[in-house]
Amino acid sequence: MGSTGSIGQSTLAVVEKFPDRFRVAALAAGNNIELLEKQVRRFKPSTVAVVGEKAAEKLRKSCGDLSVRIFAGVEGMIEVAAAPEADITVSAIVGTAGLVPTIAAIRAGKNIALANKEVLVTAGELVMAECRAQGVHILPVDSEHSAIFQCLSAGPHRDIKRLVLTASGGPFRKYSKKDLEKVTSAQALKHPNWSMGRKITIDSATLMNKGLEVIEAHWLFGIRPERIGVLVHPQSIVHSMVEYHDGAVMAQLGMPDMKGPIAYALSYPDRLAGVSPALDLTAIGTLTFEEPDTGRFPCLAYAYEALKAGGSMPAVLSAANEVAVMYFLKDEIKFTDIPRVVHQTMEAHTPSPIKMVEDALKADLWARREAEGIIEAGVKGQGIINGR
Ligand SMILES: NC(=O)c1ccc[n+]([C@@H]2O[C@H](COP(=O)([O-])OP(=O)(O)OC[C@H]3O[C@@H](n4cnc5c(N)ncnc54)[C@H](OP(=O)(O)O)[C@@H]3O)[C@@H](O)[C@H]2O)c1
Repeated sequence: MGSTGSIGQSTLAVVEKFPDRFRVAALAAGNNIELLEKQVRRFKPSTVAVVGEKAAEKLRKSCGDLSVRIFAGVEGMIEVAAAPEADITVSAIVGTAGLVPTIAAIRAGKNIALANKEVLVTAGELVMAECRAQGVHILPVDSEHSAIFQCLSAGPHRDIKRLVLTASGGPFRKYSKKDLEKVTSAQALKHPNWSMGRKITIDSATLMNKGLEVIEAHWLFGIRPERIGVLVHPQSIVHSMVEYHDGAVMAQLGMPDMKGPIAYALSYPDRLAGVSPALDLTAIGTLTFEEPDTGRFPCLAYAYEALKAGGSMPAVLSAANEVAVMYFLKDEIKFTDIPRVVHQTMEAHTPSPIKMVEDALKADLWARREAEGIIEAGVKGQGIINGR
């Protein structure tokens, strides 16, 4: 799910490299039907879904010579999520749009290779409970969580002292607060180490990505927020660490390439030969670590706040961030407005429990409207965003 995106394309590259091991049962994408058609012709899935009915109709025509069922909308995503031939569903739609299809895949008993962190941020407790009820495993695709998952085999859960997520620090790691006020979306889209989709690239620059990952780690590994730390590591070679009570620290290292964690999630517990480029530490030479600066990058602190507040607050953080990032990508607000919009939306929210998917979607919708209202008021000069 999300086959035309950055993770989706890397997943298909892994499948292509190991044809004896993997076959594609179903594909879902948003609107890029040109690329999707190529993928359908190459990988021959039996079920496909796209967001819009028009796009589905167009694809049905262009794929008329193939034996493939093509669906549209959320119902279509659910068909793909629950495709009978699939053993594992790769959840790589961006944002909250991935929540309902991912839950559908869990309810259909599919193991989940999870890239979409917003799923656990928005409804972590609910999603984990569904997994337990269905006997479904989540295999992390996020490189940090894949690293932690790998390090956790070194000792029992009770002996974990803390988790340490590493962060590249993004393109503006050394920028002053004043410099940050002026950065453009084009600058923010140039990540120093990773090539990723647009939303996650902006999230990496604001450190919101790391905040979302802290929440994701909390739900995936059952560790309290105060025992999840973050270290800025600009080389992106140490993908994350687990510190044990005896002082031992397990770290997973590798070149920054998403094909490694994707392949591990698909092949676990096996390791596939030659998936990632070899790591040459002598060529890299130096690995450095520093504390994140939440004064300049407050989104990370807001994510901890949201996790501690609990209930619907992380869903609100994530949805407000999605809206703010979208406006920033259209150059309608400043980079430094992103945390402002997120925090103002959180301040206006009283968290409530998330007992059903509908509760998560309701909080998500509320936050989107609130964030849009804050932005519109700011742009019209009636609010505090945009420095006005
Ligand atoms: N990229 C990475 O290296 C990376 C690493 C770790 C985690 N992740 C996570 O993985 C997820 C995907 O990231 P990405 O970088 O691959 O994003 P991306 O390149 O923007 O791709 C997003 C995918 O989702 C599809 N999509 C968007 N809206 C949709 C909707 N409403 N319904 C169905 N499909 C929809 C897009 O389809 P169209 O393009 O066809 O419209 C595309 O296939 C995110 O949650 C991200 O945080 C990414």
